[in-house]
Amino acid sequence: MKIISVNDYKELTCNTLIINLFEGEKSSIDFVNEHVINKNEFDGKFNSIYLLTTVGQFDFEKILIIGCGKRSEFNENKARRVVAKVVKQLNSLKIKKAVFDMDFGFDWVKIGVISAHIGNYSFDKYKNEKNNKVEEVCLVGVCQTDIDKAEIIANAMDEARNLANEPAAYATPQKLAEIAKNIENVETKIYDVDEIKEMKMGAFLAVGQGSVNPPKFIHVKYSPANPKKKVALIGKGICFDSGGLDLKPAASMLTMRDDMSGAACVLSVIKAVSKLDLPVEVHALVAACENMPDGKSYKPGDILTARNGKTIEVDNTDAEGRLTLADALCYASELGVDEVIDIATLTGACSVAFGAVCSGILGNDDEFVKEIIDKAFDAGEKFWLLPTFEEYKYGLKSEFADMRNTGGRQGGASSAGLFLKEFVKDVKWAHIDIAGTAYLESPMDEFPKGATGSGVRALINYLMSV
Ligand code: BES
Ligand code: MN
Ligand code: ZN
Repeated sequence: MKIISVNDYKELTCNTLIINLFEGEKSSIDFVNEHVINKNEFDGKFNSIYLLTTVGQFDFEKILIIGCGKRSEFNENKARRVVAKVVKQLNSLKIKKAVFDMDFGFDWVKIGVISAHIGNYSFDKYKNEKNNKVEEVCLVGVCQTDIDKAEIIANAMDEARNLANEPAAYATPQKLAEIAKNIENVETKIYDVDEIKEMKMGAFLAVGQGSVNPPKFIHVKYSPANPKKKVALIGKGICFDSGGLDLKPAASMLTMRDDMSGAACVLSVIKAVSKLDLPVEVHALVAACENMPDGKSYKPGDILTARNGKTIEVDNTDAEGRLTLADALCYASELGVDEVIDIATLTGACSVAFGAVCSGILGNDDEFVKEIIDKAFDAGEKFWLLPTFEEYKYGLKSEFADMRNTGGRQGGASSAGLFLKEFVKDVKWAHIDIAGTAYLESPMDEFPKGATGSGVRALINYLMSV
C-alpha cells in the first residue's frame, strides 16, 4: 500500500473520500450535512459506517463516513480502530484508492499510517485468489516525512506478521538466518552448530538436537556513531514447537509455527531501527531451532549445562523456549549493553491468564519495566505486569541439578520468568510473554486470524524514546 500526502484532494483522480464524524456534531462538508446529518441518516456512533453515493453532485462518487462516537470519549486507541476499520471496509467494497480527510483534533499521521496497514493486512501469499487490498491512500494536508517514518514501523509489523504466519516448512532456522543476513546497514553473525557447541550453549543445543534442520544462533548488531545507550533484544525463535518427546496434543500443536514470533519481532524491529537511524545501539539475538521428537531428541531427566555453567534438569521437553533463551540471555549479558529485553511466546499460562488482550511482562528493575509498559501503551499495545515473588521459584527446585526447567502448571508465566532471571547477569532486564497476543485463533477488532506482530510497535516506540 502506498500512502501519500496531498494538498488539494479535488484534483485527484480518485472517487472515494473518507471523512470522520463525531456523535451529535455536524460535518465540515455541507453536502454531507444536507444529505445525511440533517436527515438523521447517521448518528456517528463509534466504529459505525455510512456510505453516501453522490450521483455526480459532488467531487467524489462516494463518501464513506466513519463514526467516532462522542468527541469527549475519543482517544488515540479509538483513532487506531476507526482507521483500520475504514480500510477493512474499503477492502470489502473492493475500493483500491481513497482520500482520507479526517480530523480527530490531534495529530494522527503516525497512528493513521500504521493502522491503515493493520486494517489492510491479510496473509494471502499461498492463495490463488488474492484478498482485496487498498493500493493507495492519500492523506490531506500532512507531512510526507511523517508518513514515511510511520511506514517504516508499519512495514516492520507487516514483515513480522508475514514471517510468523509462514508455515514452519518455510520459516526454518536457516531461513531466519538468511533474513537476518539480508538486513541492511547492520553487522550480522550467524553461528552454526559447531560454534554453538564451542560457545557452550548446552541448553539451546539440547532443544534443537531432535530436528533435521540444524540450529542457528543469530546476532544482528546495529551500531550508530555515539549511541545514547545499548540495548539487546532477544526473540524466542522456536521455528516449530511440537513439544518434543513430551509431545503436544494435536490441537495445541496446530499453531506452533508461531513459536518464533519473538524472533520475527526482533528482526523486524532492528531493521526498522536502522532505517529510522535511531541513536541507540541495538543487538537482535535469536537462538533459532525446532523442538521435535526423534531418536536424537533431548529427554525428560536429561541434565543440561547452560553457557553460564548452571545445570538444568529437563522436567518437560515442552518447556523448551526458556532453555534456548537461557543461553541467549547469558550471551546478551556479556555484550556490555545497558538493557536486555527478551520477547517470547513462552507460556500457555500467560495466554490463559491474559488472553489475547495483553502481553505479560516482568523484569529485574521496576522503573525500566514500567517505562516499557508506558511506551507500549503509547504505541497501541497492552503489557501487564506479572508478579515475581520468590515463591514462584519453589517449583523449579531439583534434586539432581541447579534447577528444573518447569515449576508445575500453577503460576507458569511467573515461574518461567524467574527461571530466565537465573541467566541474566549485571544488566537491566525485562521479559515479555506474548504467548497469548502473538497469534489470534479468531479475528479480534481489526486483526484477522493469525500472527499479530505483537511487540513490534512497542519495542520500536521504546527505542525511539531513548
Ligand atoms: N510455545 C509454548 C507456549 C505457548 C502456548 C505459546 C500456547 C503460545 C500458545 C511453550 O514452549 C510451551 O509449550 N510451554 C509449556 C510449558 C509447560 C510445559 C511448563 C506450556 O505453557 O504449556
Ligand atoms: Mn513448548
Ligand atoms: Zn514453545
